[in-house]
Amino acid sequence: MPEATIAIFPGDGIGPEVTAQARAVLERCAQRFAIPMRFIEASVGGAAIDATGTPLPADSLSLARDADAVLLGAVGGPKWDDPRSEVRPEQALLGLRRELQLFANLRPIQVSPSVVDAAPLRPELLQGVDILFVRELTGGVYFGRPSERRQGKAGREAVDTVVYDESEILRVVDLAFSIATQRRKRVTQVDKANILATSRLWREVTREVAKGYPDVELEDVLVDAMAMHLLRRPRDFDVVVTENMFGDILTDEASVLSGSLGMLPSASLGAGRNRLGHRAGLYEPIHGSAPDIAGRDLANPLGSISSAAMLLRHSLGNEEAAAAVEAAVSNVLEDGMRTADLRQPDTRQVGCAEMGDAVLARLG
Ligand SMILES: NC(=O)c1ccc[n+]([C@@H]2O[C@H](COP(=O)([O-])OP(=O)(O)OC[C@H]3O[C@@H](n4cnc5c(N)ncnc54)[C@H](O)[C@@H]3O)[C@@H](O)[C@H]2O)c1
Repeated sequence: MPEATIAIFPGDGIGPEVTAQARAVLERCAQRFAIPMRFIEASVGGAAIDATGTPLPADSLSLARDADAVLLGAVGGPKWDDPRSEVRPEQALLGLRRELQLFANLRPIQVSPSVVDAAPLRPELLQGVDILFVRELTGGVYFGRPSERRQGKAGREAVDTVVYDESEILRVVDLAFSIATQRRKRVTQVDKANILATSRLWREVTREVAKGYPDVELEDVLVDAMAMHLLRRPRDFDVVVTENMFGDILTDEASVLSGSLGMLPSASLGAGRNRLGHRAGLYEPIHGSAPDIAGRDLANPLGSISSAAMLLRHSLGNEEAAAAVEAAVSNVLEDGMRTADLRQPDTRQVGCAEMGDAVLARLG
């Protein structure tokens, strides 16, 4: 197997702390599973603004383009928060999504049995929750034009535009169905088809895609109902596919099910293949840079480590290594180790680095 190049963008706040643990896990996997990998670090976000004046320097972008996968920490923080500023850390994320054409965002929401009572919902609702959200990432209202504020006849007015063409819908829905064949074979398509023309096109294209997957069951659910079902019966969902803005909102709602933001990974996949023949992708925990705890060894690194597991699965095609990392994460939780965000009775509080070391120890 050719050597995989992994671009590491630690970013800001707790980004460097959690990414260091995830990188160590990848290095251990490289040894244990004989996966040739090399790591190249570069700066993005606020750190890059400080160093170069821009959140996504040309060198970092070309590293991301040439890499087989990108592992990112988080970007942003109060230092760069001036809303009037022309350069903002988040522009690095939008730039990477756009330039790498990362059209699908995968967010698994699993509730580990050992942390089930750290979540705000009743444990009996949460036992066994295992949902994979597939959110469209490069279309819809966040990118539609016109998007502007202007002077209208009645005073100030503003407009945003939702546009989807069938190719954008097809590729993300097809990905969701193909992933569902490896899981419980159920796809829930979420829309607002009673009101929106774009949602009716989503339904139409989804039905066409579904014909190619006769073993996969499809249901359509309106987004407002879905917001409720996620809290009432989260166990009923397997793969959930939806457009950009609905996915943005629903995945944040669903993150509450797992007990802590710090636990959850994500993968953003592109249409292209990397040099290893797998999907190129960007992997990051779903949390932000958490400036309130940065630099204090308090961050939970498990979201970043689980993102590294997704990287092994989707961009390096190594299911064995991915599953071993996920098992090691489950083991540390079963053994009662907790970072501060997940404090529960009868558990042992550890810092970010100790949690990372514990995962390494269980990886062997
Ligand atoms: N993808 C990204 O890089 C991303 C995502 C969201 C927010 N942000 C940025 O991060 C900054 C802070 O945003 P925020 O406070 O709204 O969200 P946040 O996710 O950074 O933090 C929210 C809360 O969760 C806690 N938390 C988050 N991750 C944790 C972890 N791994 N372990 C333990 N606790 C954790 C934080 O301490 C905080 O109390 C802002 O500048 C925002 O723009 C970046």
